[in-house]
Amino acid sequence: MQQFAGKVAVVTGAASGMGRAFAQRFAEADMLLALADIDVVGLEEAAEELRGEGHEVLTVPTDVSSLAAVEHLAEASLAQYGAVHLVCNNAGVEGYLDGAIWEATDKDWTWTIGVNFWSVVYGVRTFIPVLLANEDGGHMVNTCSMTSVVKAGNMYGIAKHAVLALTESLDADLRERAAKVGVTALCPGIIATRLFQGSRNRPEELKNEVPTPGAEAGQALRARMHEQLSQGMAPSEVAEILFDAIKEGRLYVLTDHDWDERIVARNNEILSP
Ligand SMILES: NC(=O)c1ccc[n+]([C@@H]2O[C@H](COP(=O)([O-])OP(=O)(O)OC[C@H]3O[C@@H](n4cnc5c(N)ncnc54)[C@H](O)[C@@H]3O)[C@@H](O)[C@H]2O)c1
Repeated sequence: MQQFAGKVAVVTGAASGMGRAFAQRFAEADMLLALADIDVVGLEEAAEELRGEGHEVLTVPTDVSSLAAVEHLAEASLAQYGAVHLVCNNAGVEGYLDGAIWEATDKDWTWTIGVNFWSVVYGVRTFIPVLLANEDGGHMVNTCSMTSVVKAGNMYGIAKHAVLALTESLDADLRERAAKVGVTALCPGIIATRLFQGSRNRPEELKNEVPTPGAEAGQALRARMHEQLSQGMAPSEVAEILFDAIKEGRLYVLTDHDWDERIVARNNEILSP
């Protein structure tokens, strides 16, 4: 994608963190915005800020773990703007961090995999045909993670490995068809956002009635990780990196090289006799 002004960008998870920064960056490139989030109040705040700067913003409250909601997001965006050119499947949560993987409940799996992985499946199914319908194509960004390229280690990592695998498969299918649609797997490192406060958006019906054995330890881990993230890269910096990557049509985008040794160690272990 080379031309941005006047084109339409859809961003999920736009109420906070990186999604909000992406929206800001795309607005500065004179794109028209369709912003989605489950946090309706935060979404309106983000939109109002952008409107105050003179940008055109549609907000669509969306639970990305629901196919019907993602389809509604596409319909609302098309009804407002007539086309969509750039889609960022970005919403995500830290999910289950509350003990061993075998102790997780169905509700833990449904929430964590639903928001982090099924959301991207729904984004691909719903929006790739919309992008393909454009004469000049478009671009899709799937927010993965550095945890997508190192040993997974937890349920979040499982979901993020899957998002990367999905994005690579999508890229292969588009290339095979010589489609004018590009794909980027964005793999952020440690970014100063509210990711480890993701439980704020966990639906009531997906909360465990009885805490899992590691629930308390999980809360302590979330607090430590939140503190660690606060020292991380600014979301606006990631937005700049991403914007350049979209222009260059890059598939893999790592925000930094702090994880290189872990990437190499995993590959070496896989390849070791
Ligand atoms: N912060 C990091 O260090 C880091 C690193 C790697 C990857 N990521 C990924 O970046 C993406 C953005 O997260 P962030 O770090 O900006 O965190 P954030 O919590 O600041 O923003 C995430 C947004 O997603 C929204 N959201 C949560 N559940 C949703 C749902 N069901 N439907 C729609 N929206 C929902 C939240 O309301 C929030 O606005 C996520 O996919 C996350 O996994 C973050």
